[in-house]
Amino acid sequence: MANSEDLFKKIIGHCKEYGFIFQSSEIYDGLSAAYDYGPNGVELKNNIKDYWWKSMVNMHENIVGIDSSIFMHPKTWKASGHLDAFNDPLIDNKDSNKRYRADVLIENYLTKIENKIQKDIDKASKKFGETFDEEEFIKTNARIIERNKKIQEIKSSLNQYLSNVDLERVKKLIEDLEIKCPISGTCNWTEVRQFNLMFKTELGSISESSSEIYLRPETAQGIFVNFLNVQKSSRMKIPFGIAQIGKAFRNEIIARQFIFRMREFEQMEMQFFVKPGEEMKWYDFWKKSRLNWHENLSLGNENYRFHDHESLAHYANAACDIEFKFPFGFKELEGIHSRTDFDLKAHMEYSGKKMQYFDPETNKHYIPYVVETSIGLDRMFLAILSSSYKEEKLDDQEVRIVLKIPPQIAPVKLAVLPLTKKDKLPEKAREILKSLQLNFSCQYEEKDSIGKRYRRQDAIGTPYCITVDHETLEDDTITLRNRDDMSQERIKISELKSKISEKLDVANLF
Ligand code: GAP
Repeated sequence: MANSEDLFKKIIGHCKEYGFIFQSSEIYDGLSAAYDYGPNGVELKNNIKDYWWKSMVNMHENIVGIDSSIFMHPKTWKASGHLDAFNDPLIDNKDSNKRYRADVLIENYLTKIENKIQKDIDKASKKFGETFDEEEFIKTNARIIERNKKIQEIKSSLNQYLSNVDLERVKKLIEDLEIKCPISGTCNWTEVRQFNLMFKTELGSISESSSEIYLRPETAQGIFVNFLNVQKSSRMKIPFGIAQIGKAFRNEIIARQFIFRMREFEQMEMQFFVKPGEEMKWYDFWKKSRLNWHENLSLGNENYRFHDHESLAHYANAACDIEFKFPFGFKELEGIHSRTDFDLKAHMEYSGKKMQYFDPETNKHYIPYVVETSIGLDRMFLAILSSSYKEEKLDDQEVRIVLKIPPQIAPVKLAVLPLTKKDKLPEKAREILKSLQLNFSCQYEEKDSIGKRYRRQDAIGTPYCITVDHETLEDDTITLRNRDDMSQERIKISELKSKISEKLDVANLF
């Protein structure tokens, strides 16, 4: 397997070649950090949404969904704190004129130290073989201890400076660590400045009567402002949740790493309203529940880890990320935040409307606390795609590229392939296709050799191929070919549905 940088490039190329993801406006040389999902991409995306929605909404009698608008009253963002505090610290290099996120420059510096530690571990593991105890090695190796200490010191200084908005010290930290611009190679930095990430636009066609509004930077606020509408119309009792899938927009300073950090992306968020004082119980509950949701996809449990936040956002009293091992290292995939009553309280203050829950048991009103789970759909897509991409050497030395996407969410579930284009095989194959199309997303292919067609289906992650040959015309049997081990079995057409249904059913993931 290629090194992780090569692997990532290959995955990006594969996404384009096989219709998963295209650069937005590619014919005009593209728009940075905006992407379009192609025919296979949109299917996979819809299947991820379906898995999330089913587990959040269908499987919980106390969670309901909404679909709120992207445009919201501008006061929303004053109340939520986004107008004043949704900033990234940016810094420019005076020689290259390139702009960076100051915190990301420092994080990249830390990643380099982490990579050095990993190299030492790999070396020792090779040297000692099976007797190697990684945990013990990390605890006792002097160089690793020193490097880990340095990482912790830098992290804690950065967190402190950022939460105090002490930008001078952020700059000094960059200078003290002698962090260089990757383009110019110099340390000739400007001051660090705050940059608000919200996109502005105007509502109304006549400039005098128009007013400035924002594209929502998170879907959560659409849920908060609808809290009472939903609670009353659905007669929900606390604890209950509201779920939503939708677009969010952030004017990211550096939007790199393909669909990992985009300026327009989709979030799947759920805000869970609880009694004040019970938030930590629910925070722990949702941490476990969300990790379980991920692990059920079988992408490899070793690819996930929790990262508890040391410095908390203005609205939170506890927060963590579920990180995933992307080709470029462990990075945030999902956030779980205990947001206190910050948002509802602020909306109550700014709107003048009561945002309280009436507890029928105690006959008292209170503002609920909120625990939210927030996952980026595009990041989830990347997590699935990057961990499913495999290059396998076959017996004849040929390399097969296969996407081992969990069958339940694969974009195409079945490919129906007549062995030849003649002898009424296409007609028979289309008859079979018709009987399956309504239950499964299917593809029909008759061009090229059967081997080539199998490879094409492997490359988009189709779990099953159904081959129709001359025998099919005689005894109504087909060959069922399995993507993962390439095994083939002969089965009756009448047995096909029951044979594959269970494996392809999303219910299997629960
Ligand atoms: N409502 C809470 C919230 O928005 P967040 O940690 O800022 O929290 C939640 O974002 C998730 O949204 C992240 O864990 C990530 O998966 C996704 N996300 C955030 N910014 C993104 C971006 N620029 N591109 C793609 N996904 C992003």
